[in-house]
Amino acid sequence: MKRHLISAADLSRDDAVLILDTAEEMARVADRPIKKLPTLRGRTVVNLFFEDSTRTRISFEAAAKRLSADVINFSAKGSSVSKGESLKDTALTLEAMGADAVVIRHHDSGAPHRLATSGWIGGSVVNAGDGTHEHPTQALLDAFTMRRRLVGPDAGIGRDLAGRRITIVGDILHSRVARSNVHLLNTLGAEVTLVAPPTLVPIGVETWPCEVSYDLDAVLPKSDAVMMLRVQRERMNAAFFPTEREYARRYGLDGDRMARMPEDAIVMHPGPMNRGMEITAEVADSDRCTAVEQVANGVSTRMAVLYLLLGGSEPAVAPQNNARTEENK
Ligand code: NCD
Repeated sequence: MKRHLISAADLSRDDAVLILDTAEEMARVADRPIKKLPTLRGRTVVNLFFEDSTRTRISFEAAAKRLSADVINFSAKGSSVSKGESLKDTALTLEAMGADAVVIRHHDSGAPHRLATSGWIGGSVVNAGDGTHEHPTQALLDAFTMRRRLVGPDAGIGRDLAGRRITIVGDILHSRVARSNVHLLNTLGAEVTLVAPPTLVPIGVETWPCEVSYDLDAVLPKSDAVMMLRVQRERMNAAFFPTEREYARRYGLDGDRMARMPEDAIVMHPGPMNRGMEITAEVADSDRCTAVEQVANGVSTRMAVLYLLLGGSEPAVAPQNNARTEENK
């Protein structure tokens, strides 16, 4: 593993499988009466959020706390300092406080890369979403969820998504989730199809390792998982589709459309959902939708990432009933 996690594209298949297998061990800890591990005791994890977040910020905090790290939450919203200076000054402050890991979400694509390569800080940098670029831990928790649901919990460590057909639908243009998922799913051997209105498909998509379709109904029967994306109004500076109604009619997932999917296929959504836009309440609340499960899996996956970046040679999960478990009490 490298020292930082900036992009899903940087992960080799071995790295990705190691993270997913470690996340599986972490998920087992969640079933124990005492959910906390001593692994990162004495380490400091800073959550540095320049952009709004519910799930990602909370789950990084929960993950670090379950590993016994000290957690500092820094929300930079409202800062009037210019972006470059602000990031540098903040980074130097975090370094002075001895941050071992900085989890950063930023509205500018490339900010985590800048932090990791600037020399301002000595610890690990984890990208928790940068602009429209990448969101690697979301892709990892999505892959974890797909492995559990589509490959099965008993298939053993190291199982992968080879040959699984994953469809990602909606605002691909503004989605760091889509970009990270395409890279990681390709690394894990899955076949990815993107479906979106032509205006919401990024320029250069032909170089991405996936197919592109404009016909959702044609793709649904051939999908093992369908990931619906939020229409990201806050990043839109023009009209990308005629009306919300028209968007929902052509690219939204409702009960009738879901019925076209294979029986065991799942519906995913990274959240936050625009109910009535890209997904109806009926689909969002159905058993086939894994949105809430994805959030729970996010904690295990982020524990695995923090452990692998910071944990060194200590075993992640000690067997029960030995001295280290005693330490936990
Ligand atoms: C996504 C994000 O912030 O990129 N959400 C998340 O992390 N769970 C997707 C979105 O905002 O639509």
